[in-house]
Amino acid sequence: MLDKLKDKMVPVLIGVFLLAGAYVMFKNNDGSNPSAAAQIVDVKVPQLSELAKQGEVIFNASCASCHGTDAGGSDVGPSLIMSTYNPGHHADEAFFRAAQFGVIAHHWPFGNMPAIETVNRKDVEKIVRYVRELQVENGIATQEHIM
Ligand code: HEC
Repeated sequence: MLDKLKDKMVPVLIGVFLLAGAYVMFKNNDGSNPSAAAQIVDVKVPQLSELAKQGEVIFNASCASCHGTDAGGSDVGPSLIMSTYNPGHHADEAFFRAAQFGVIAHHWPFGNMPAIETVNRKDVEKIVRYVRELQVENGIATQEHIM
């Protein structure tokens, strides 16, 4: 009798588990969910190198409107100081490409990033330096990209 009950409970439990999983996924991917604000990262700013300081100025002029102060994120763009953007997952080339061609939304519900015509490759090199120094200070380490 108890065994029979157990047999019945297993599919029920699996169902509950799947529903909970679906809820979590849906909650995070649904564009209408105001979870974007929750993504804002409180970024610690280290003593920046000269190059990174130049990058910061360019970043503030061309990127911070979406990626936020200290690249901590905003209502309209993700923080770049999170493990998603560690060098193993988004190599420097991703920054050059993002600035030159824009980005089709694929990680977040913010929408596409337009190409940024106010920066050239040299500018983006400095921005990358800035972002990487912030990442290191905030414990974002290179993780191998397994996919
Ligand atoms: C108009 C808003 C906006 C501006 C301005 C902007 N971005 Fe973005 N950016 C986004 C959004 C939104 C995403 C996330 C797209 C996604 O993956 O869903 C993004 C993603 C990125 C990515 C990740 C690319 C990838 O391959 O996933 C990088 C790197 C990046 N931005 C760098 C920059 C740099 C550098 C600048 C300034 C030169 C900049 N962005 C300016 C909105 C913006």
